[in-house]
Amino acid sequence: HRHLLGIEPLHPTEITTILDLADRYADLNRSALKRANALEGLTQINMFFEASTRTQASFEIAGKRLGADVMNMAMQASSIKKGETLIDTAMTLNAMHPDLLVVRHPSSGAVNLLADKVNCAVLNAGDGRHEHPTQALLDALTIRREKGRLHRLTIAICGDIAHSRVARSNLILLGKMENRVRLVGPPTLMPSQIDQFGVEVFDDMRAGLEGADVVMMLRLQRERMDGGFIPSEREYYHRFGLDAEKLSYAKDDAIVMHPGPMNRGVEIDGTLADDINRSVIQEQVEMGVAVRMAAMDLLARNLRAARTDKGVMA
Ligand code: CP
Repeated sequence: HRHLLGIEPLHPTEITTILDLADRYADLNRSALKRANALEGLTQINMFFEASTRTQASFEIAGKRLGADVMNMAMQASSIKKGETLIDTAMTLNAMHPDLLVVRHPSSGAVNLLADKVNCAVLNAGDGRHEHPTQALLDALTIRREKGRLHRLTIAICGDIAHSRVARSNLILLGKMENRVRLVGPPTLMPSQIDQFGVEVFDDMRAGLEGADVVMMLRLQRERMDGGFIPSEREYYHRFGLDAEKLSYAKDDAIVMHPGPMNRGVEIDGTLADDINRSVIQEQVEMGVAVRMAAMDLLARNLRAARTDKGVMA
């Protein structure tokens, strides 16, 4: 592949290849000298049109650990503010010959549109409600490390599914790897075309969590609710917030995940989120760096191979 725009186009063996390499980078990241040269001489530009802590920081760290020249575009201070379009902005940066473009955008499909116009590899860092592929990959790596496998697991994805690109990328990935995926949440926060994914749907947390190996919580994405149904936080926490009592319906060794940012006391109890015996939230963040290193390394190999084929200096 030239780009990483979503989980949808990936074959299960390609997912495994990314995770295997990420596992090796996870070891490197725990060592004293966190340095490799897979991106030596390459230029990486991060363009975030939407707020981010984890994704932006980890893409920057990932690029630097692999030797790339990394630039974070301050989109709030860019000429987007003067009316320049996304495509014109991308074409302007493209003329400076970047090799890797990491893009987050509030509109679904915006990153795919941009990828068609530029000469470099594009990585989707989250587009609207569409996809967040590196999040699903880091979640998959965390699950594989914790459970020793990434197949035949029962995984409950809970909360605001309708507005979540994290849920969408995860259910595509986990389905491809032959897991049993359940979606748990209020019917008003379920996507309308859910049948195509072959998942089970629950509106009761205890029934949805029964016997689960993995419980993945999601944030209420108020910024994407544009005047539609907005539940009261108290009522939502009572019915759908994860606490020790609701978790007791899952397997005894079930792990608790959350992509972040989390709202304590809304979708998850703060004490449970901090419980290192159950919660793997910090490991997810750690795996985020490793997965992004692996994804950029593999795309850079493809980029170099394509340039060599064209007779361009790799
Ligand atoms: N999980 C995630 O995408 O977090 P950020 O919005 O902080 O990048």
